[in-house]
Amino acid sequence: MNFDSLWTGGHLATMAAGGRGYGVIENGALGVKNGRIAWIGPAGKLPLGAAEGAAVVEDLAGGWVTPGLIDCHTHLVYAGNRAAEFEMRLKGASYPEIAAAGGGILSTVRSVRAAGSDELYMQSLPRLQAMRASGVTTLEVKSGYGLDVANEMKMLAVMQRLNAQTPVRVVPTFLGAHALPPEFEGRPDAYVDLVVNAMLPLVVKNGLAAAVDVFCETIGFTPEQTECIFQAAVSHGLPVKLHAEQLSDSKGAVLAARYRALSVDHLEYLNADDVPLLAAAACVAVLLPGAFYYLKESRKPPIDTLRNCGVPMAVSTDANPGTSPIFSIRIAMNMACVFFGLTPEEALAGVTCHAARALGLQDEIGTLAVNRAADFAVWDIASPAELAYHMGDSPLRYTVINGKRTA
Ligand code: NIG
Ligand code: FE
Repeated sequence: MNFDSLWTGGHLATMAAGGRGYGVIENGALGVKNGRIAWIGPAGKLPLGAAEGAAVVEDLAGGWVTPGLIDCHTHLVYAGNRAAEFEMRLKGASYPEIAAAGGGILSTVRSVRAAGSDELYMQSLPRLQAMRASGVTTLEVKSGYGLDVANEMKMLAVMQRLNAQTPVRVVPTFLGAHALPPEFEGRPDAYVDLVVNAMLPLVVKNGLAAAVDVFCETIGFTPEQTECIFQAAVSHGLPVKLHAEQLSDSKGAVLAARYRALSVDHLEYLNADDVPLLAAAACVAVLLPGAFYYLKESRKPPIDTLRNCGVPMAVSTDANPGTSPIFSIRIAMNMACVFFGLTPEEALAGVTCHAARALGLQDEIGTLAVNRAADFAVWDIASPAELAYHMGDSPLRYTVINGKRTA
């Protein structure tokens, strides 16, 4: 077997057992051919002549390899910031109060509408680079700060450009129903109509999104409006996902399960009785402990029930300018452990195999296995638990994306 490159001399956390354990291969070897994993196993079992036949042999020098980390829920493309709102919240204002006063999401909408496409790209790029530095090789990004046809398309085009001009795999999600834009004040159904009949067809026609999301919440859209958008998405053949049960139990998760959503995200107010529906629909629960932290939320998602019912739990930053200005997936891993009681093993599964499933990409990325994309991260750590244990360190040596080593 002639590999394009072969990694030896270190340990592998394959995450290949569907989230049950790290899938450790000590003293492992990983051979790559044409951007995909061609061989993986203990170095002692490498086919004879594999090292001599490989074009490049990389020495891991005792380091660890994990699948490239996947941040499956972000709002990373935006302009401006909301530091002033952070200060207001610390003085006692709540997130819904700030939203009702025209701040919150709508303040970022004003900044995004005012920014040109290049400006939006240049402001988003450093955040993507910060994510990369934390080990991220795949990044989902949502629209939803444009809220009109031109500006939603502008956001999605910036995601396309980030995907093309950086090594990171950027997976775009259309979140036209993120908030009600001011020009539709009092006419939410008319806005939903615009999302369904003007924005979505353009998104589909130009191949600008891999999934459709909605903010289903008292300060967002009702379950009825959400369903209307889901029906349209399904009719266009696009999978759905949902911001559900972040601030109240609106039964969004139940609705999402009916539509076989890829994921339901946030879930602090999810009723434990509804969890079996998620399990039956093979829907991923995406935990967003950064928003929990910034909003000083006290109610936690029903983790034990999710775990006991076998619902895959992904972990993500929810990177956004309001409720989670966090650009390190490893901080989200740590918070998922400390706040929500995940084990470091569950946290790593949450940013690899389960995050891949939340994007419908489980056959491509998120595990180290033969025929998967050669997307992985090489770390200077002594055990994989360290990835969730430390905060503020930089143990990432480099990442490999589609077989290519990136800085
Ligand atoms: O996931 N909940 C809605 N959307 C984001 C917040 C976005 C914002 O505040 O700008 C979230 O928390
Ligand atoms: Fe979000």
